[in-house]
Amino acid sequence: MKHHDVIIIGAGAAGLMCAATAGYRGRDVLVLDNAKQAGRKILISGGGRCNFTNQKVEPHQFICGNPHFVKSALARYRSSDFIELVERHGIEYHERDHGQLFCNDSAKDIVTMLMTECEWAGVKIKLRTEVLSVSKTESGFSLTTSNGDFSCTSLVIATGGLSMPKLGATPYGYKLAEQFGLTVLPTNAGLVPFTWHADQKVRFEPLSGIAVPSTITAQDGTQFSEALLFTHRGLSGPAVLQISNYWQAGEAISINLLPGENALEKIELALKNHPKQSLRNTLSHWLPKRLVEALFEEAQLDKALNQLGHGEREQLAQNLNDWSIVMNGTEGYRTAEVTLGGVDTNELSSKTMQANNVPGLYFIGEVMDVSGWLGGFNFQWAWSSGVAAGLAV
Ligand code: FDA
Repeated sequence: MKHHDVIIIGAGAAGLMCAATAGYRGRDVLVLDNAKQAGRKILISGGGRCNFTNQKVEPHQFICGNPHFVKSALARYRSSDFIELVERHGIEYHERDHGQLFCNDSAKDIVTMLMTECEWAGVKIKLRTEVLSVSKTESGFSLTTSNGDFSCTSLVIATGGLSMPKLGATPYGYKLAEQFGLTVLPTNAGLVPFTWHADQKVRFEPLSGIAVPSTITAQDGTQFSEALLFTHRGLSGPAVLQISNYWQAGEAISINLLPGENALEKIELALKNHPKQSLRNTLSHWLPKRLVEALFEEAQLDKALNQLGHGEREQLAQNLNDWSIVMNGTEGYRTAEVTLGGVDTNELSSKTMQANNVPGLYFIGEVMDVSGWLGGFNFQWAWSSGVAAGLAV
């Protein structure tokens, strides 16, 4: 049985970052992954350009049972540290809205960078390797795999979440956590589009492809101002993906279709200036006509503004500034970008990611109960938690 100082299960974002960090510290590191390629989620991320971090990363942009948990790792390895690494490897990048940083060329550059770092740090990587069993020994862990048996002093679980099962996502990390007595908090699809109820589908499906600016508010008051996209199946776009992290099944969301504007004031002004203009024409200056026609009754749209009573105008304004809708559900793990929930952070050290009650066992990245907003935050958590463990193993 070959012994390594550190074995990392999962050659994704967190696993590779942790491996390079530990390797540079002189640790003998082996990374195991059941996939045929390392970093597959990185490759498809950010539409193929990988939104690898964000200029401004703050703890409140992460959802975690213990909101303080992320602070230490994020402060120790900041987005500026990752940007510096990217620049050292000569990868060109650009900034988009809200401080999001993307590769100019391809997400492949990030995987190549991580693999190069691992190579320089002397890390060994075995792909297409199924871990069949893990057991605790006196001095560490022993693993039986489809590629031989190994032992290690430190074992790092970096198997990610459940999203995109066709890319090889498995619940293995959660099972291992439970095997060692750690609590796994219930998991759910996050950063995921919403789906219509049957009746909503009939009404709104023809709007597929329409995108509008919006502010969406969840029942807990969390709010995002970004684009809203109508799809065949339901609602998507950045605002919807963000709010899905804060949504519970059955809850209504409130959509403001005129963000930053007072719809009633706008309607009253239009009434003053163009009293004979139809409601349809008035609203079509503010929103796509097809959306206006799906939202409001034909008979009402054909009325002139001066034919609408005050109560009617108030109701219209309410529907524009605070459209309350209960969606059927989400598209689930098939299209989700992240998994909410996971290994309970109360059972891990926030400095090292080590399990409090199982010395030598570490959890990093998405397998933990830490999920970030859309915008490069999930990768930043993979880098920061990976480095935290890499410095400790
Ligand atoms: P990750 O999923 O990267 O890696 C887990 C690894 O473990 C994989 O290599 C897998 O094969 C391996 N594994 C799983 N089970 C195993 C088993 N039983 N045995 C051995 N190995 C096993 N985030 C962001 O910040 N910016 C972005 O642009 C995007 N874009 C994006 C697009 C899409 C379509 C998705 C699905 C996700 C994103 N994300 C993102 C989220 C981001 O990809 C995600 O948060 C990180 O990849 C998490 O890193 P991990 O290393 O924890 O898991």
